[in-house]
Parts: sequence; C-alpha cells; structure tokens
Amino acid sequence: MKLLLSEEEVQKKVAALARRISRDFSGEEVLLVGVLKGAFVFLADLTRQMTIPVKIDFVRLASYGAGMRSSRKVRLTKDLETPLKGKNVVVVDDIIDTGMTLKHLSRRLKARRPNSLKVVALLDKSGRREASFQADYVGFHIDDHFVVGYGLDCAEEYRNLRGIYIFK
Ligand code: IMP
Ligand code: MG
Repeated sequence: MKLLLSEEEVQKKVAALARRISRDFSGEEVLLVGVLKGAFVFLADLTRQMTIPVKIDFVRLASYGAGMRSSRKVRLTKDLETPLKGKNVVVVDDIIDTGMTLKHLSRRLKARRPNSLKVVALLDKSGRREASFQADYVGFHIDDHFVVGYGLDCAEEYRNLRGIYIFK
C-alpha cells in the first residue's frame, strides 16, 4: 500500500469543507446524510468541524445487477428516519466513482422536497464517471486508483486507517 493522502492533509481538507458548508448555510440548520458504510469516518470529522446547527442521519445503499456497471441498479437498503421536507440536506459520501450511487440517491431524496439538497464527497475519481453527476463540494480529485482508509475498505478491511492509501 502506498500513502496517497496523509492524516494531516485529510484533516486540513475536512476542516476547510466544514468551513465552506457552514458559511454557505450560515444562520440555518443542516441535516447531514451519511452514506453507509464508507462515509462514517468523514461524517464524524466533518460534523465536529461545523459551526452551525447540525443533525445527522444515515442511508445505506446496495448496487446490484449484472452486465455493464453503468446499467447497475441502486437499491436503498436502509432509509432515513428523518422527513426531508423543508430541510437543508447535505449528503456526505466518501468517494464518487462512476457516479451511479449518488445520482440515484440525489434523485430519490429530491423527490421528498427538501428546502435544498447538496452533496459533499471527500474524494472524486472524475475520470471514471459513467453517470452525469457532480458533487457541490469535493475534497480531492484523484486519479483512477483503488483507495482504502479513512472509512474506505477493501473487503471490509482498512476502514480504520487514518490516512488514505492506494491499494495494489
Ligand atoms: P459509484 O456509484 O461508482 O460512484 O460508487 C461509489 C461507491 O463505490 C463509493 O461510495 C464506495 O463505497 C465505492 N468505491 C468506489 N471507489 C472506491 C475505492 O477506490 N475504494 C473503496 N471504495 C470505493
Ligand atoms: Mg460508498
């Protein structure tokens, strides 16, 4: 494994993202929606750097379907417990790869008529996009590597690493 982003680089970026989001929603409250499992570490750090009132909830998604990745179906296996109507929702995810997951999730959540819906992703592999999707806030744009650590796993391992590593 090769270090891609150190703990310090990640923490600086997370603090900067929290500042931006807090500024953009200043005077308001946001609901942070973490996408399980990968986003749990990022969400925990992000929420503690926010300077506005924050509530949190989680969703869990599973993608399935044979054949082309771009035709995958995405299923919500754990839904929110919070109604979204009138809320400022910020979806928090670890990484955007093909974009299928977040495109699907955003569409589902928008249908519940939140006051606003934004997406923050710590990492973005924009070179691999198959669905047209852009996050509102991105920590790092990275090349096409499989990465682990800081919540990201390979077969459920390495989520607890403090930095982000390229997995070979
Ligand atoms: P997408 O629908 O292709 O954008 O899939 C995004 C999801 O795939 C992420 O939320 C991760 O759970 C997983 N994923 C994509 N790339 C990586 C990676 O490099 N390491 C670990 N998980 C990844
Ligand atoms: Mg994920």
